[in-house]
Amino acid sequence: MVSVLRTVNTIESLRRHVCEWRAQDLRTAVVPTMGALHDGHLKLVEQGLRLADRVVVTLFVNPTQFAPHEDLDTYPRDERGDARKLKEIGAHLIFAPSALEMYPDGFATSVSVAGPAKAGLEDVHRPHFFDGVATVVAKLFIQAGCDYAVFGEKDYQQLKVVTRMAQDLDIPVTVIGVETVREPDGLAMSSRNAYLSPEERKTAPELYRALRSLANEIREGSEPAAAVARAEDRLTARGFKVDYVAARNAENLGELTSRNEPVRILAAARLGKTRLIDNISV
Ligand code: PAF
Repeated sequence: MVSVLRTVNTIESLRRHVCEWRAQDLRTAVVPTMGALHDGHLKLVEQGLRLADRVVVTLFVNPTQFAPHEDLDTYPRDERGDARKLKEIGAHLIFAPSALEMYPDGFATSVSVAGPAKAGLEDVHRPHFFDGVATVVAKLFIQAGCDYAVFGEKDYQQLKVVTRMAQDLDIPVTVIGVETVREPDGLAMSSRNAYLSPEERKTAPELYRALRSLANEIREGSEPAAAVARAEDRLTARGFKVDYVAARNAENLGELTSRNEPVRILAAARLGKTRLIDNISV
C-alpha cells in the first residue's frame, strides 16, 4: 500500500496533525523508534495500523539513553530508507525531531524509574539507560497524545518499564507489546546486528538456541538456577561474553519464588564489540 506520508520535525506540527485526526474521531498510534528500520520495526507499524486509523512513527536517536562510551555517534541512521519503507507499509506521519527540539537549552528534567527498571538485568550493565528511555518516551507520549503506543518484546525490560511509567504518570496511552521478529536462523532482528562480522553473525543465533534449550529444561522441571548456569556455560564456550542470563517473573521481572508463576528468560551477551539481547517465554 502506498499512503500519503508526511515528515515533521517540530513538536508543534506533530501536535497539529494528531489534533486534526482526533477532531475527526480517528484512533491514533505512535511507534517510537531510533530509526534504521528493519522488519521488526515494520511489524510494530503493522500492529499500529491494525489498532488505529493513523500511525505516527518517531525517528530519534535519543542521546540521553547512551553512556559516553556507547555507540551514539555510530548508531546506524538511514532517514531516507526509513521514509521509503514507512511509505510502502502505509504509515501516516514521521516525527523526526532534532536533539535541540527534544532537549532545548536549559532542559533540566528527567523521569527516574524503579520497579522493573531496577530488576538487576539491563540496568546493571547500562545504569543510565532506563531513565533516558523513560524521559524520552514520556515526552513522546505527551507530545503525540496518541491512543496506543507500540513497542517490541525484543527489549522486554524496556517494554515493562515504559508500560509502568505510563501507568504511574497517568499518561492516557495503551502500551502494546509485539512479539520479536527473527531472522530465519533465529537471531532476533536488531539495528545493532549490522555491527557483527560475518564470523560473529554465524555464531549469533546460538544465543536464541541457548535460550530455547533453557526454556525447555525449565518447562521439563529443571531447577532454574542450575539450568541458567548451564546456558551461561554454553554461551561462554561459543565465544560470548555473558552479561546475564536470567529466569524471571514474566510480569514484574522479579526473582522466581514459586513453580506456578509465568516465566520469562532474558539474556544479554557480547560477541566481539556487539552486544546482543534476547528473551523468550517459558
Ligand atoms: O527501543 C528503542 O528504539 C528506544 O529505546 C526508544 C524506545 C525508541 C526510545 O528512544
